[in-house]
Formats: sequence, C-alpha cells, structure tokens
Amino acid sequence: MSEKLWGGRFSKGMADVVEKFTESVSYDCRLFPQDIRGSIAHAKMLGKQGIIPAEDSAKIVKGLEAIYARWEKGEVVFDTSAEDVHMNAEKMLFAEIGAAAGRLHTARSRNDQVCTDVRLYMMDEIDAIAGLIDDFCKVIVDAADRYKDAVLPGYTHMQHAQPVLLGHYFMAYCCMLERDKARFIDCRKRVAVLPLGSGALAGTTFPIDRDFVARELGFDSVSENSLDSVADRDFISEFLSAASILMIHLSRFAEETVIWNTSEFGFVTLDDSVTTGSSIMPQKKNPDVAELVRGKSARVIADLMSLLTLQKGLPMTYNRDLQEDKEPLFDAVDTVKLSLSAFALMLDTAVYNVDIMYKKAGESYSTATDLADALVRAGLPFRSAHAQVGALVAYCVDKGKEFDDLTEEEIKKYAPDAPDGVKEMLTVEASVAARKAKGGTAPVNVKNSVEKRK
Ligand code: ARG
Repeated sequence: MSEKLWGGRFSKGMADVVEKFTESVSYDCRLFPQDIRGSIAHAKMLGKQGIIPAEDSAKIVKGLEAIYARWEKGEVVFDTSAEDVHMNAEKMLFAEIGAAAGRLHTARSRNDQVCTDVRLYMMDEIDAIAGLIDDFCKVIVDAADRYKDAVLPGYTHMQHAQPVLLGHYFMAYCCMLERDKARFIDCRKRVAVLPLGSGALAGTTFPIDRDFVARELGFDSVSENSLDSVADRDFISEFLSAASILMIHLSRFAEETVIWNTSEFGFVTLDDSVTTGSSIMPQKKNPDVAELVRGKSARVIADLMSLLTLQKGLPMTYNRDLQEDKEPLFDAVDTVKLSLSAFALMLDTAVYNVDIMYKKAGESYSTATDLADALVRAGLPFRSAHAQVGALVAYCVDKGKEFDDLTEEEIKKYAPDAPDGVKEMLTVEASVAARKAKGGTAPVNVKNSVEKRK
C-alpha cells in the first residue's frame, strides 16, 4: 500500500479487481494538459503566498513543465495502479524532482482539482465547438447564396404546403445553429468559475490567493461556496443539454438530406467523398454521413441522460459516482465536433437539383393560399375565400388538373372575385416574392438574411 499516495492508513493492498474497477486514468488521462496547467498555477500561488518555500514552488513548476513537454512528445505512459490522472501526474512529479513534489498537494484536494480540470477542458472545447458552428454556418450561408433563386416545395405534415426559397430553408438552419452557439457561449459563463481552493469540501486553512489562480488559468471568477464547488456538475448537464439540442438540429437536417437524396425525391446529389458503397449491391451510393449524424444524436442525448441520472439522489458533496461524469462529456465533445465537421463537408460538396425542386414546387396546388389571399384583397373574408379555393381544388383533383392547366374562366367559375391576370399570381415565383413581410420567404428577405451573416 505504500505504493498509493494515500496509502498511510492501509495495511492491506487493493484487490486487483477493485483497482480495475475504480481506476479512471484510462480515460481521464485526456485531462492531463489541464491537470498540469492547474497544478502549475497552484504551485506558483503556494510559493507567492509563502505557503510553501519559494525554491520548492519553482522546482515544482519546472518539473511539471518538463513532464508536460514529455507528454507533448507522446512519451508519457499512464499507470492504472495510480488510479487517476491527478495521482499519475503527482507520481511523475515525484520521479522528476523528488521530495519537493510532496508539497504540491498543499491546500488542495482531488475534489476541487478534478472539477478545475474538467472546467478548463470545457472552456477550451466550448471555444472549439463555437468555432466549428461558425464554420458550419459559413457553409450554410454560402449554400443559401449559391441557390438564392431556387424554389423548393415547402412541407408541413410532409405534404406540399407552399413554395419557399431554398435559401430560406438553409437560413432556417443557420438561425438554429446560431442559437445553439449562443447556448454554448452562455453555458461557458458558468463553466469559467474556479472551484480550486474549495479543498475536499470545506475550504482550506491556508492563506491562498484564489483570484491569482483564476487569472493564471483564464477563469472569469472564483466560486462562492466550497460545498457547491465540489458537489455540483450542473455545468456539465448544461453543456450536454446544449450539445443534445444542437445534435437534434443536425439530425433533422440530416434526415431531410437522406430523404432528398432518394431517387423518389432527387432533390440533392451528394459527393462521392461523403458517401459510401455497398458490399453487395454495386449500384449503391449511400448517404452514411447524414445517417450517422442522425444516429449519433442518440449518443449525445444518452450522454445527457447518463449525467442527469448520475447526479440524481447524490447526497452532498463529492461522491465517487461523479467520476462517471467524464466519459459522457468526452463522448459528447467528440461526437459534436466530428458531426459538425463531417456535415459541413457534406453540405459544401452537395449539388441541389434545382430543376426537380422547381417542378415539384408548383405541383399539388401549392399556391392555393395565394389565390385565397388574392380573393381577400378583392374584399372577401378569408374563410369564404378558403371555401371557394377548396372547391376549385376539388374540381382540379376530379379532373386531374394542376392550377397551371386551368384557364382564368375556370378559376373565376369557383372564385368570381378573382382579379384579372390571376394566373400570374399563382406561379411559384409570384408566391415566393409576395411573402415580403418580415421573416417570409421573399427573395429580398433571404438576401438580407444572407448579407447580414456575410
Ligand atoms: N478520479 C476522481 C474523479 O474523477 C478524482 C477525485 C477523487 N476524489 C476522491 N476523493 N477519491 O472524480
């Protein structure tokens, strides 16, 4: 037991299976850079405050920097018998500088250390994810610009509803992703609060300078309550909520891409570089990126559920259960980042088949609302207009006609108040152009929306 840094009171070694069961270094080794950064700031502060001798503080900092340099070269080997990343780093420090290493853990516990590391990690990853969302939005805005004149059948209930611009459709996802980014940025405010200095749970007896440590590490402030600091993981729940909501947006976009990529729709052709073949059917080209984004949204939701369930019923303050917070977090970070990157590439290389969309956009009486609106402008109450146009649609269905096949006389038979030249109002171009009110699909609105982002 003398092997363990906490082995003092133990007379018997840990059983192998327990060592295997309790270790976390196999995955929390990912926090190594943050653990070293945190320790360097802590050691500097201990020296500055005269809590440990200045020479030891300097020795510790140098030692940690040397270990970190070795890690960067890929030369650090983690040892599961040393339990977690924190114990591994401390052990390495002992090997590096000897006895002075024993002063590093003054005025600190792994309980405040671990959430300091996790928070540092999350601050970096939130910045990275925000950058990837920006990149993704750039691709969306480019696509909206590229296809600014293309008309798409807009759907409700998966039925043709009203024509919309393809650019309007793209910008809808841009709006969603901007809110996703805002959620991450807002979450970051609550992540960037330093827990170090809370000790195991009750605070510390030493005259530490937490504000100094916060500044050194890039935290915005220091936590107010030591119990709260070591007990709560709400900032991870919040991050995973933001991640889940983002993945749901991506999943819906992906689902549409899968549908639009079918031969039945034919709205989009995906590039070879983002599709895969079948091992048996030589003709196949599958939209696997879109399918996997859809599929991986399930993992991220599971990560959130896992973290919420983990905390439910935990008494104050730190409990070892909380060690299980890391894998869902890491999994969500990896999944979100890869999904954003792969989806952006798929979208950037996709070719939207605007002729097919255009043809479909004019089918199934998609401009019926425009006719009703024209009747309203002629003085009819909307409900009466709706009834007249409904009867006209029933006539068309019966005769197997589209609006395009109708003469103005046929229209006026059902809608006597229809203005002259009414057929002009029933084209998809006119329908789209007429929706100029704020937020509508008119070209001017889509253009403004695109320009604003550019
Ligand atoms: N590996 C632990 C975790 O991730 C670090 C904190 C351990 N604290 C303790 N008192 N055993 O939660």
